[in-house]
Amino acid sequence: MNLTLKVWRQKNARSTGKMETYEVKGISPDSSFLEMMDELNNDLIEKGEDPVAFDHDCREGICGSCSMHINGEAHGPDRLVTTCQLHMRKFNDGDTIYIEPWRAKPFPVIKDLVVDRTAFDRIIQSGGFVSVNTSGNTTDANAIPIEKENADKAFDAATCIGCGACVAACKNASAMLFVSAKVSQLALLPQGQVEREERVLNMVDQMDDEGFGNCSNTGACEVQCPKGISLDNIARMNREYAAAMAAKGEK
Ligand code: SF4
Ligand code: FES
Repeated sequence: MNLTLKVWRQKNARSTGKMETYEVKGISPDSSFLEMMDELNNDLIEKGEDPVAFDHDCREGICGSCSMHINGEAHGPDRLVTTCQLHMRKFNDGDTIYIEPWRAKPFPVIKDLVVDRTAFDRIIQSGGFVSVNTSGNTTDANAIPIEKENADKAFDAATCIGCGACVAACKNASAMLFVSAKVSQLALLPQGQVEREERVLNMVDQMDDEGFGNCSNTGACEVQCPKGISLDNIARMNREYAAAMAAKGEK
């Protein structure tokens, strides 16, 4: 396949970026999108030009780092896949493909297609964990019986890979799908009960402090999420938040 690529190039966070045009030739339809990007970078390096910076790690759809907008869609035209799992057979020979970084104020561009997603780390640090007493009498987690329905829902929520596609897809740059997946994962399990109220209050506060917007129920996040995280989690987080606020008022 021969393709025309329009790629966002930006030297650093302070510089102004712009689209640059590149031609790539002889791309196999069986290669992944990132392998195609590797081919582009090989060409650029051979010509002595700066390769395009993009994030990637596992290339197996699990680390969540391969964030990019492809033809205006987070992770491109395929559903339920990350960019590393997207294949060139989804495009046609001769296509022009637009490749841009996530666009959201809390995700500033570091270089080219790489954005700073440490806002997500700070939200997790504010409450997305379970404190365990490791003083010697810790029971195995799997010794605690968990209702099948809750175990399934917690597992589904836990499949969120923190990629940020939900934020990028949202007109409000809302992080509520991500945060609600993390809140739900722990609120549904017995291990998450001790810090349940504190967790949701702290994580929502941190989300707001980072500058993410509110949910206005357009559902773009769910459509673009590579792991199929459901909007039900946002409803659950809102209930958790309201209950925690009410409990706080009573104390
Ligand atoms: S909810 Fe989906 S889109 Fe958002 S960070 Fe998690 S996996 Fe990515
Ligand atoms: S590189 Fe890890 S999810 Fe794509």
